[in-house]
Amino acid sequence: MPTKLPTLPNTVRGKDYIETRDWSVKEIELALTTAGDLKKLFRKGKPHRYLPDKTIFLFFFDKSTRTRNSFEAGATQLGAHAHFISAETSQVAHGESPKDMGIILSSYGHAIAIRHDLVPGEGNKYMREVAQYAKVPLFNMQCDIDHPFQTLADLMTIREEFGKNLRGLKIDVSWAYAPSYAKPMSVPQGLITLMTRFGLDVTLAHPPEYTLMKGPMEYAHRMAEQNGTKFQVVDNMEDAFKNADIVYPKSWGIESLFHNPQEALEISKKYKHWICDEEKMKLAKKHAIYMHCLPADRGYEVTDTVIDGAHSRVFPEAENRLHTAKAVMALTM
Ligand code: CP
Repeated sequence: MPTKLPTLPNTVRGKDYIETRDWSVKEIELALTTAGDLKKLFRKGKPHRYLPDKTIFLFFFDKSTRTRNSFEAGATQLGAHAHFISAETSQVAHGESPKDMGIILSSYGHAIAIRHDLVPGEGNKYMREVAQYAKVPLFNMQCDIDHPFQTLADLMTIREEFGKNLRGLKIDVSWAYAPSYAKPMSVPQGLITLMTRFGLDVTLAHPPEYTLMKGPMEYAHRMAEQNGTKFQVVDNMEDAFKNADIVYPKSWGIESLFHNPQEALEISKKYKHWICDEEKMKLAKKHAIYMHCLPADRGYEVTDTVIDGAHSRVFPEAENRLHTAKAVMALTM
């Protein structure tokens, strides 16, 4: 006889998840607890079909490995089905409006998730417009402002390492050099806005050209003040790594140059020394963990010795994308 699944609270049923700031601390705590419970069930191989016969649409304007597959696998494990839609092969490529998308897709299923992250000023606006007309929850699978499923998984990973009370711990969110492409700004922005609410002291480090958007910066300062945490900005990796408990060095692009990748690439070449290597790891605390949302430019953002070494938590972090995606789907759909 299959055992009955515990009933999930319905406090966020029907709610969008577009930026972590849209959810209260209590709601985020619920998502984290649910993710932990679902992780245990998954590890034990116990079925947990909280969403039988439901449908979620995954709408991608950009590439993905973790996000797409954590949602697709997660939906299957919850008893739902995920449809993958590429913006290029849908009528959006011919200019179909976000309003029509929201109305139509929400008449076919139970949630819409969107990744639209490469153009500052566009993605968040687009998904909020879809959400305005959709009758089902809207999930942000990464926009220009936030990557709320990534940072939820990051917070889960940090708590698994250090426990629930993170007060006084220091996280370094640092820019790093990467030649592959101008990576979105949403992960560092998501980190500074979420971690300042959950007890962590945040140090942001970047070269002068790599400032983050004004809105997330102001919000992070406000959250630090309200929550008795620290938020400071430095202009070098070394200061940020010093005494850090968590280091999160990753690349991002220049806000005004996402339309001009060649110029951005030229500027970034000045900062090839912004790499996370063993020397920099020595500046952090002995127990410090290395995190990265992935994909990482190995040999540029980070050396193999660090990302494959004892400090690295990138694979548990990537696994937690599955459990957190499932938690939000199960609670809201
Ligand atoms: N971290 C993350 O969002 O990975 P993908 O771009 O592969 O989805």
